[in-house]
Amino acid sequence: MYTIQTPTDDRNELAGWNNDSLFGGRELVVVSNRQPYRHDKTDGELSVSRPTGGLTASLDPVMQRVGGTWIAWADGDVDDEYVDDDDCVGVPPEDPSYTLRRVWLSDEQVQNYYFGFSNRVLWPLCHSSLSTVRSKQSYWEQYKETNEQFAEVVSQEASDQAVIWLQDYHFALAPDHIRAAVGDDALLLHFWHIPWPSWDVFRACPHGKELLRGLLGNDLLGFHADRFCHNFLECVESALPNATVNWRTGTVSYQSETTRTRTIPIGVPFDDIQEQARSYDEFDEFRQSYGIDEDTKIAVSVERIDYSKGIPERLNALELLWERNPRWRGSVTHLMNCSESRSEIAAYSDVQQRVEKRVTQINERFGTPGWQPIVEVTDYLRQQELYGIYREADLCLVSPIRDGMNLITHEYIASQVDSDGMLVLSDQAGAHDLLGEPAISVSPHDTGQFADRLSKALTMPPQKRQDRMEQLRQIATTNDLHTWIDKHDAVARQVATERQRSKTSV
Ligand code: F6P
Repeated sequence: MYTIQTPTDDRNELAGWNNDSLFGGRELVVVSNRQPYRHDKTDGELSVSRPTGGLTASLDPVMQRVGGTWIAWADGDVDDEYVDDDDCVGVPPEDPSYTLRRVWLSDEQVQNYYFGFSNRVLWPLCHSSLSTVRSKQSYWEQYKETNEQFAEVVSQEASDQAVIWLQDYHFALAPDHIRAAVGDDALLLHFWHIPWPSWDVFRACPHGKELLRGLLGNDLLGFHADRFCHNFLECVESALPNATVNWRTGTVSYQSETTRTRTIPIGVPFDDIQEQARSYDEFDEFRQSYGIDEDTKIAVSVERIDYSKGIPERLNALELLWERNPRWRGSVTHLMNCSESRSEIAAYSDVQQRVEKRVTQINERFGTPGWQPIVEVTDYLRQQELYGIYREADLCLVSPIRDGMNLITHEYIASQVDSDGMLVLSDQAGAHDLLGEPAISVSPHDTGQFADRLSKALTMPPQKRQDRMEQLRQIATTNDLHTWIDKHDAVARQVATERQRSKTSV
């Protein structure tokens, strides 16, 4: 899940974003499970690495620009050797611009809070995969305990005027505790990066009511898509009879507090990515190193190996494509960049094995001495290299069974500076709500349709492809990372004004 690199590599910049008075100049405290930098030692050699996930990659440049404190689980081997007496370290290590406050979790907590309730209960439940849910009382106990621990750390770090910005499903219970500790003047924002399921699915959630109550401690709860927002409100209305949902404004009143829900789809630093894609000039060497011919079309995919990502389903569609259309044998290569993730959970190790097996089968079935249908990229790819590959790739395949957003879509589009590639996108990704029309939309379980659409994408006339990619680029640039932050900023200011007004009117 982590990529090892020298600390100076791959710094995201937020070029052209001048919102230095973000959140009205209030102190910013971000809380996430993953830390943006971790310290490890291999054979006595220090390495500082950054996780590959979209969440940390998106927020790190914001923090670098704005400053403040980021609170997260210290999961590095030697993180403790690089903090001061208050468990803090300045980051990025080579030129610190904000503070990382590390939170120590016991092995038992990691097993129960992280691998347990977060990833064996909430993750599958929110991805509507009920048969994958595995619940235990100890998972819940330590999820509660860890949320309280994080809330305690927030209360040590945040002033009573701070903007506290929680990230994701690891902290559904923390807002309530934080509110009690820091008081009414602090602003509590929470972004839920994964889907929120319908009530019919959520009602299967153990301790669902407590989770909803915890989340209603926030001033703002953000989702990537309207349907996730709608589902959340439906769950509140169904599970908490004392809560009042205003469907017109998307607000919930509960125990004299108001929580606003908003659809604020995340984006990427579009301009920076396109600049990096433009300046990459080693693609020919890359191709050669993986034995891919110059005139072979490339269909790229990048993801953590997760059952929600629809990797076996995509492999089925590709197999059918090559089976039905001999013309694509030898002329299209699927370039797969997968990283292992959460392997100690059986559902993850199972899908890893299935993917490996299918790749071998397909390569054995269709491969020739001069052509390998599926090429797995095992080397670490620097960001610039990845964007350069996206620029050159004829197709990008994003085929989740269910996904909150999926930022690979936006990264691919931002890298497509020549507008000659095409995005093939599952209708189950949050990104589909924004990008589904100009992209080639697929239903990941419908293998026949998926294979046909791959064929359609590969044969699309250049002008049509360019028109569609330009539409995609227009959408991604107007919904980039700056927009995501500015929208949070606008809601936070609005909440602050409303709160001030209600104080003066009392
Ligand atoms: O929101 C989902 C997410 O937190 C992503 O940001 C990230 O890609 C992934 O999950 C990281 O998973 P983990 O931190 O459990 O490895």
